[in-house]
Amino acid sequence: MSQVCPVWVGYLLASPVRKLFQNPDVILKSFVRDGMTVMDVGCAMGFFSLPAARLTGDSGKVVCIDCQEPMLTRLTKRAKKAGVMHRIETRMCTTDNLRADDLSTKVDVALAIAMVHEASNPAHLIKQISNTVKPGGVFYVAEPLGHVSLPQVEETRATIEQNGFEVLETQKSHRLYSMLLKKTA
Ligand SMILES: C[S@@+](CC[C@H](N)C(=O)[O-])C[C@H]1O[C@@H](n2cnc3c(N)ncnc32)[C@H](O)[C@@H]1O
Repeated sequence: MSQVCPVWVGYLLASPVRKLFQNPDVILKSFVRDGMTVMDVGCAMGFFSLPAARLTGDSGKVVCIDCQEPMLTRLTKRAKKAGVMHRIETRMCTTDNLRADDLSTKVDVALAIAMVHEASNPAHLIKQISNTVKPGGVFYVAEPLGHVSLPQVEETRATIEQNGFEVLETQKSHRLYSMLLKKTA
């Protein structure tokens, strides 16, 4: 079974230094708009969730889902400090149940960043996330290369495509493989 990221690593992942090679403001601004519903799965302490909440405005929201309570507690503190908590909903899930059935086809943008490789059953997780995305909505996935092999990421991409998505864009550097996919049906 895959292991979930320890909470102490969550603090490192929320560091502003990370923006030097993975800047959420730059990444999200091309597909997150005012009024959208964003779902950040495996949100940890909100390195992507908080910038997403700034982009959705007061008419949008960000549903932040994680299987570790301390991650959500810290995210809440950070979001309050940043003045965006009113745009954020936190949800505790289990590793095999996303607890997002109520969001079926309601999500404009799903994010799964540095987390698919932690799932014990990635295909099951991807299916649950895919169900929440509305037709025409997008799914952004990024995985850390080195930690995750290229064939593993390509398998993730194939599984998302099998769930009704087409690839809009992929980006590969020595550190990261990211992909943006659109739900076609
Ligand atoms: C490496 S961290 C990445 C966090 C965040 N997306 C980021 O990029 O900063 C992975 C996060 O996914 C969560 N996670 C792992 N497996 C999960 C699952 N099956 N469902 C929900 N969250 C999960 C972990 O608790 C952890 O907070």
